[in-house]
Amino acid sequence: MQNSKKQLVLICASARTKGNTEIIVDSIIHNISMPVYNVNKINIAQLNIKPCTGCGKCSNGSKCVIEDDLDQINKSLEKADVIAIASPLYFCSIPAQLKALVDRSQPQWVQKYVLCKSPIANREAQIAKRKIQKGIFILCAASDNQKYFECSKSIIKSFFNVRDIDYYKDMFIPEVDEKGDVLKHKELLVKAIEIVSEAINSD
Ligand SMILES: Cc1cc2nc3c(=O)[nH]c(=O)nc-3n(C[C@H](O)[C@H](O)[C@H](O)COP(=O)(O)O)c2cc1C
Repeated sequence: MQNSKKQLVLICASARTKGNTEIIVDSIIHNISMPVYNVNKINIAQLNIKPCTGCGKCSNGSKCVIEDDLDQINKSLEKADVIAIASPLYFCSIPAQLKALVDRSQPQWVQKYVLCKSPIANREAQIAKRKIQKGIFILCAASDNQKYFECSKSIIKSFFNVRDIDYYKDMFIPEVDEKGDVLKHKELLVKAIEIVSEAINSD
């Protein structure tokens, strides 16, 4: 039987257990999850995602030859209605594990821009055949300077774009550094929950 429940995938990109990023992800889960939605939390730092080697073997449309946990993540992403990526800011960018996931989207890039097999090539056909997936990006940082958000944002935009995921909304959470600092900004946690709930409920 087909599962009619909406699928939410939450990617936690920090390796720091119970750090600010994981607190955000868990707050979202506890406030909007069961019983209405299927929620899949992916702690990418606990998975094996090797970096792209640029071997080019996907350039003919083949899947990536590296054997690791990417297949499992791809399957979750393909099923999702809403994908929220929460990440800390690392040196004006995203952590290496998340960047590895982004870079391993090269097979999708080949499909979309070289082989042109992406359904996005025909937007109407896409709407008819395939659900529109919504992507959300939440970034936390020690700094309060929004300009540091831009680099990470363009990487995640590119990740969502190559996978035909609509860039729905994003959120910058400044001035969080020590574990738990984000709990001092309850209004920002509420905002993050609202954004994800809104994405799930809007069709
Ligand atoms: C390796 C590393 C690099 C960081 N680089 C930056 C940075 O460039 N700018 C910034 O504002 N914060 C930076 N931070 C701070 C983190 O973004 C901040 O502490 C965040 O709240 C960590 O999230 P977490 O608790 O989920 O791991 C860095 C932290 C680490 C560990």
